[in-house]
Amino acid sequence: MFITFEGLDFCGKSTQVEILKKYFEDRNDKVELIREPGGTKISEKIRNILLDKKNSEMSIESELLLFSSSRAQLVREKIIPLLEQGYYVISDRFHDSSIAYQGFGRGIDIAAVKAIQNFAIDGAVPNITFFIDVPFDEIQKRRVKHGEKNLDRIELSKNEFYQNVYKGYLELCKTEERVKRIDGTKSIDHIHQQIISEINLLEKQ
Ligand code: TYD
Repeated sequence: MFITFEGLDFCGKSTQVEILKKYFEDRNDKVELIREPGGTKISEKIRNILLDKKNSEMSIESELLLFSSSRAQLVREKIIPLLEQGYYVISDRFHDSSIAYQGFGRGIDIAAVKAIQNFAIDGAVPNITFFIDVPFDEIQKRRVKHGEKNLDRIELSKNEFYQNVYKGYLELCKTEERVKRIDGTKSIDHIHQQIISEINLLEKQ
């Protein structure tokens, strides 16, 4: 099973992916956790280019293609082989991030972003995707706590950008059956239980 996590920066998804990994390990399932952008030697190099604050001149088209290129490598080098070996693959972000951030956030034509994603992921569509929903006001508070100087290039984007990314995720929840909205303002354990129950439902099908 291929499971992906989505949400705004600081929504808490990185905590949830770790707990979910432990859940599968405790069940003695084979599980692998990956992060996007990154996860392979080539993809990590692309990640560094993407997040480097010095690359402020990067065009939005180049940004989209770099994220997608990193993903194309990850899918072929890791995700598809692991799924073929019966692993549960959990990814901290995947192609929906490009639809939300580069499409809705940066304003690139959504149909074009989706077409590029189809090419990049080569049919490796997640079985289920969790959108950890934390409203933008709460995200803002967490960002301030984190400190401006620790933010990467994408995180330094303007508020309006993040509001559009958020709208994009809500749209994906409406239009894609596989994308489940989880209330990210609840406790860590409550969120985890919600996630488990959705996965168990899917496993029974
Ligand atoms: P990262 O530090 O991994 O963010 P987080 O841990 O909060 O998920 O950096 C990834 C950043 O890149 C994050 O701001 C989201 C953004 N991003 C995109 O804009 N498009 C994408 O396709 C992906 C995968 C990430």
